[in-house]
Amino acid sequence: MASRIVVNADRVKGKIHRNLYGHFAEHLGRCIYEGLWVGEDSPIPNTNGIRNDVLEALKRIKVPVLRWPGGCFADEYHWKDGVGPRDKRKRMVNTHWGGVIENNHFGTHEFMMLCELLGCEPYISGNVGSGTVQEMSEWVEYLTFGGESPMADWRRANGREQPWRVKYWGVGNENWGCGGHMRPEYYADLYRQFQTYLRNYGDNKLHKIACGANSGDYRWTEVLMQQAAPFMDGLSLHYYTVPGTWQKKGPATGFTTDEWWITLKKALHMDELITKHSAIMDVYDPEKRIDLIVDEWGTWYDVEPGTNPGFLYQQNSIRDAIVAGATLHIFHRHSDRVRMANIAQLVNVLQSVILTEGERMLLTPTYHVFDLFKVHQDAELLDSHESVERTGPEGELPKVSASASRAADGKIHISLVNLDFESGASVEVELRGLKGGRLEAAGMTLTSDRIDGHNTFDEPERVKPAPFRGFRIEGARLDVQLPPMSVTVLELTAE
Ligand code: AHR
Repeated sequence: MASRIVVNADRVKGKIHRNLYGHFAEHLGRCIYEGLWVGEDSPIPNTNGIRNDVLEALKRIKVPVLRWPGGCFADEYHWKDGVGPRDKRKRMVNTHWGGVIENNHFGTHEFMMLCELLGCEPYISGNVGSGTVQEMSEWVEYLTFGGESPMADWRRANGREQPWRVKYWGVGNENWGCGGHMRPEYYADLYRQFQTYLRNYGDNKLHKIACGANSGDYRWTEVLMQQAAPFMDGLSLHYYTVPGTWQKKGPATGFTTDEWWITLKKALHMDELITKHSAIMDVYDPEKRIDLIVDEWGTWYDVEPGTNPGFLYQQNSIRDAIVAGATLHIFHRHSDRVRMANIAQLVNVLQSVILTEGERMLLTPTYHVFDLFKVHQDAELLDSHESVERTGPEGELPKVSASASRAADGKIHISLVNLDFESGASVEVELRGLKGGRLEAAGMTLTSDRIDGHNTFDEPERVKPAPFRGFRIEGARLDVQLPPMSVTVLELTAE
């Protein structure tokens, strides 16, 4: 039986906010230092200290928004330690991640410069767990105040005349865990207090984001919405795909076929989480004013053998590409409520799009999904209906995941993920409501001949997209033959 997907090209369901393709960079392991920041004196080619190879690769995928400085690090970060002359900045211990020295060379100015170079929105995560209301309030003043004030004057003395624009502001991170082990009632009160002093200076308007739930903790969402909804613009959600237990998560490569299925099943759980958290938010915010922001998501495996356990360095395979594609489709489906998501993390940590080793860099299969899917950013989400084959050991998973959108130039993009590592998938795509004449299509696909196919520094192009010709056009219908374990994007034009 072929899977069938009907796309109603004349029915727009909403907008796929580009921020669903957001990223996250924490002071963790080799993400910031080595991965992004090498310093101006490094032999690695760089722009003001940011390595050029990584910068160029990130520009290509159009990173729309970048969350920083954590994660758990955010609630022990004191931003004043990270401004001013670099050689005078305080050296501290990154107690949460590996107990290594943090020299604070990458601080507020460096982060804002990185965002400017990438052309992306900064998303700053403020410290609630070990910080003060004054400290957070002054960070906003330092960044965004254009007049004369102690913080704005200090910013100028540190070399930045004009205030920056900062929209997204997180008030704490995982305050139910590493951010202070708080009860939701206590955090809700703290949230109300902290956010009061986050001022909008000039025409800079903050989008204030409250710390949200840990995966299925629906009570957290209930309490936050009940007690603090009017004071927030966004509420976050964290959910990681961990194939095993937190103690023994399973390897990133060299895994079993059972681990393939369990990983995908757990990744698809994102749909249920968003559905249930959204239902609670709907009660308090039926107009959907408040965004649900999945600001940490992705796969989390055992660290690569021989690497620092506190650095969370893992490889990335075609399995991660499938997780990325299917998860991004889930975000598309919920784009009436989910308006930002940030995969964890950008470079060298968890489900990264880039890995580095010294001066070498590789693009992971997950990178290629973000590259193929960038056509969905800010596009119109088209109404589509699926009747798909089942797969998995007990037929518990959909074999194919799909999404369709129309870009500003009128082109329609259909992304298709085949979750099955063993067999190809026949998909009949019917397009209704098309204006225009003959349908033309072109496509790219990402696949592998092994379930853990991945790129290495010696063979960085083992898994990369290739032109896709496995389709036939019959009027307004496409018969598509997807390779096993693949992520495919078709571009359609009606001539
Ligand atoms: O992304 C790694 C860690 O996972 C983050 O620091 C934290 O917020 C989460 O628990």
